[in-house]
Amino acid sequence: MMRREIDISGLVDVENGVVSRELFVNSDVFDQEMENVFTRGWLLVGHESLIPKPNDYFVSRMGTESVILTRNKQGEILVLLNSCTHRGMKVCRYDQGNSAVFTCPYHGWSFSTDRERVSQPGALVGVPRSEEGYGGKLDREAWGLERCPHVVNYKGTVWANWDSAAMPFEDYLGDMRMFLDCVLDHRDGSAGGSEVIGGVQKWRVRSNWKLSAENFVGDLYHEVSHQSANLAEIGPSGGKGRRDEQRPRHAIGFPGLGHGVLGFLPHYEEPEYTASYRNDPEVEAYYREVYEARVRNLGDRMRVGMTVGTIFPNMSFHANQPRTLLLAHPISATEMEMWRYYLVDANAPAKVKDMLRHYYLRYSGPAGITESDDMENWTYATAASGGAIARRRAYNYQLGLGKERQVPGLPGAVQSGSYSEANQRIFYRRWEQFMQAEDWADLMPEPQSAAAAHGG
Ligand code: FES
Ligand code: FE
Repeated sequence: MMRREIDISGLVDVENGVVSRELFVNSDVFDQEMENVFTRGWLLVGHESLIPKPNDYFVSRMGTESVILTRNKQGEILVLLNSCTHRGMKVCRYDQGNSAVFTCPYHGWSFSTDRERVSQPGALVGVPRSEEGYGGKLDREAWGLERCPHVVNYKGTVWANWDSAAMPFEDYLGDMRMFLDCVLDHRDGSAGGSEVIGGVQKWRVRSNWKLSAENFVGDLYHEVSHQSANLAEIGPSGGKGRRDEQRPRHAIGFPGLGHGVLGFLPHYEEPEYTASYRNDPEVEAYYREVYEARVRNLGDRMRVGMTVGTIFPNMSFHANQPRTLLLAHPISATEMEMWRYYLVDANAPAKVKDMLRHYYLRYSGPAGITESDDMENWTYATAASGGAIARRRAYNYQLGLGKERQVPGLPGAVQSGSYSEANQRIFYRRWEQFMQAEDWADLMPEPQSAAAAHGG
């Protein structure tokens, strides 16, 4: 493998809270990110509910590359690079479907996932003019599709990593896992039990992917951008109501791992129920019922809550406003493709799912009332950051600098109040490590208490 190296030293200075604009506009930095961050980090590639039956597939992305997420006839979940080994053509040009064989449209090579036919899923099984052209000697196992070595199903979400030396997924999450559970678990507090509703929304934004990741890692400071949404007061079921949780949120970050959330400090009982669906008694009854089940299920165990968060590098999630997984897929230094998956309790009544579908579309996505505010900020920031003069000035990440303190009950986490850029500093410190590391041995997190002491 050719590993291009550019010198990024001096671009990130988290101790002083400054980060160079080169991270957001420079295509050499971008190329190195694809090599050093996106082939080594754990990336979300989809959800098992998108491929419920044998041979179902869903075409996803890892970094700039197209991959096929599929469940083979034997039920194994696989991630294959969507690039023919002959001349690189995409072997699958659909968004999703059902097939055990992917046949390349260019010269007709075909690849199978079925273990009854091949020992390695993705192996080459069909070659036009095989006898006449290759004398029947083409090594079919060697010319199979590239297969991702690490694939993990975590409560229905499927994660993949190209690096066979990568740390296990659950270690990579650390205590951030508790916050991810807030979005993946059933609203009644039981583990998992969610499904993706509708299709996946996909749209392009002329912005560097990190502006999305760092926004959701813990930027409450940009609330001024959403004043119009707050003034409009459109609650989840279409009536009046606030868009956000009203309890104070804190920026909670994970030094050494790069993740962060706007969340609530660990607590031991459920906050009081707030009726939010007064104009829809059936939906209201469902939420009251799952709330009561949640109180029973969680008992007096420690729990966390969150509104938004980012798992390094590019997966963000929202627990309740609405409940979604968001990928900021890199396209170029100045463009990303956003994908939103919307989650619902798989066994919720149709009426509840329908209400949520409307709320999700109204609130999020390219036409939603809040996403459009954020996209406008990111596109104008990207456009105004690439000029020769603009590039001389670093961005400022000094908000809350030096105020980090340990989160009680979560030894690996720090918090520094609601308005802080501590999580962004933690994110960029991790980014710098990924960009500079020779291999995964250099990326193992430091012991967490030591990392917490110096705030990342
Ligand atoms: Fe796929 Fe030639 S590029 S068969
Ligand atoms: Fe926002």
